[in-house]
Amino acid sequence: MVAALLFVPSLPLLSPGALMAPLIQEERLQRLKHRMKIYFDASRPDHQDALRALWSATYPGQELHGLISEQWKEMGWQGRDPSTDFRGAGFISLENLLFFAKTFSTSFQRLLNKQGGKRATWEYPFAVAGVNITFMIMQMLDLDSSKPRTFVRAVFIQMLSENEWAFDLLYCVAFMVMDKQWLEKNATYMEFNDVLKSTRAQLERELLMNEVLRIEDMPSYGLLY
Ligand SMILES: *[C@@H]1O[C@H](CO)[C@@H](O)[C@H](O)[C@H]1NC(C)=O
Ligand SMILES: *[C@@H]1O[C@H](CO)[C@@H](O)[C@H](O)[C@H]1NC(C)=O
Repeated sequence: MVAALLFVPSLPLLSPGALMAPLIQEERLQRLKHRMKIYFDASRPDHQDALRALWSATYPGQELHGLISEQWKEMGWQGRDPSTDFRGAGFISLENLLFFAKTFSTSFQRLLNKQGGKRATWEYPFAVAGVNITFMIMQMLDLDSSKPRTFVRAVFIQMLSENEWAFDLLYCVAFMVMDKQWLEKNATYMEFNDVLKSTRAQLERELLMNEVLRIEDMPSYGLLY
């Protein structure tokens, strides 16, 4: 593991075209860190558009009556105004949900409608769980720390330089892992935090596997199909 990590940075020197790699890596990292700091601002037209886009990606063909509406509760928001739930993780948690809905719509719908397995009486609220997952991944990756403290962070930054969407993909994998563990544990909402913790542990294990160089290589990536 250590050897592999130490070798990767020297590879770009082998080909002149690859000399750009560290620059791209830095640029993508800065862009992602910036995304993580954006608060949801209900007065911004682009944020309003994103919220409307989330609705139509989640419930195609169903009309949304307003950015504040009872309808949002159906998706698993705590109240009529999803923006209060975004406070935990910011605008990126909306982007993550939207990415999931658009990129893996079948899996997204399956989780939204709680279609897999034997479901608990006390289910987790889908959308709020999504915000919690964004927050958990941000903590796990610890991208803002000035001193790199974990291998998981280093591995992820390498993946990000290969794929700009690495964070969003990791989010989708995390959601699938969380739902799977939820079912395996016959969990109730009281146990949501425990499930989130064991989801994080599973993601960390998979990210540190030798053969995992991209999000797509993670064993749990297969859950999305
Ligand atoms: C999950 O997110 C909701 C909404 O942002 C928040 O109220 C709650 O405290 C979060 N829970 C955890 C475990 O992060
Ligand atoms: C969950 O419930 C099923 C049957 O409903 C049972 O077979 C299984 O052992 C339970 N799992 C746990 C972890 O309690």
